[in-house]
Amino acid sequence: RRVAVLISGRGSNMEALADACAAPDYPAMIAGVLSDVEDAPGLQAAARRGIATAALPRGDFASKREHEAAIHRQLVAWRTEFVCLAGFMRLLSGEFIAPWQGRIINIHPSLLPRHRGLDTHRRAREAGDAEHGCSVHHVTAGMDEGPVIAQARVPVLAGDTSDTLGARVLAEEHQLYPEALRALIAETP
Ligand code: GRF
Repeated sequence: RRVAVLISGRGSNMEALADACAAPDYPAMIAGVLSDVEDAPGLQAAARRGIATAALPRGDFASKREHEAAIHRQLVAWRTEFVCLAGFMRLLSGEFIAPWQGRIINIHPSLLPRHRGLDTHRRAREAGDAEHGCSVHHVTAGMDEGPVIAQARVPVLAGDTSDTLGARVLAEEHQLYPEALRALIAETP
């Protein structure tokens, strides 16, 4: 199956997906990596791996609708079957999502429905959560909403900073995302 990954930054989850796809028994390949940020480090990481890339900054388009239309066209040009958002920092409209419904997923660094949005590691600590983690979920027009596919949990430790906690979660993200994608592909005709 052909998977496109949408990123805005570092792209470590994109790399985890690309690593998984390199295994002969994994049921997907990366059709392309698209970013809304021209100089996203993840785009260079993808290019180094020989993966097709595209940069489509919002500022190059007159409206959100035209921006999303360009993203959609690129996904179609790559013959994309599944879309993985991986640190893609833009909210996609219902109109964009509709044709990908059931085949577009996101990874979020919290145990959804707790801590939607940004700064989740600090918020988990400040809330006194004993556990934190990450979720892969179906994408809907609401931010970090949509049915959860899979989660991984980590403990919040006494001496944690947002950085140490975030690193523990990120290591789980890199395991969880390829597993969740594999499961979704297995159940999608
Ligand atoms: C990850 O924590 C992901 O869960 C969140 O944004 C971060 C992206 O990191 N949505 P990376 O670009 O995959 O390294």
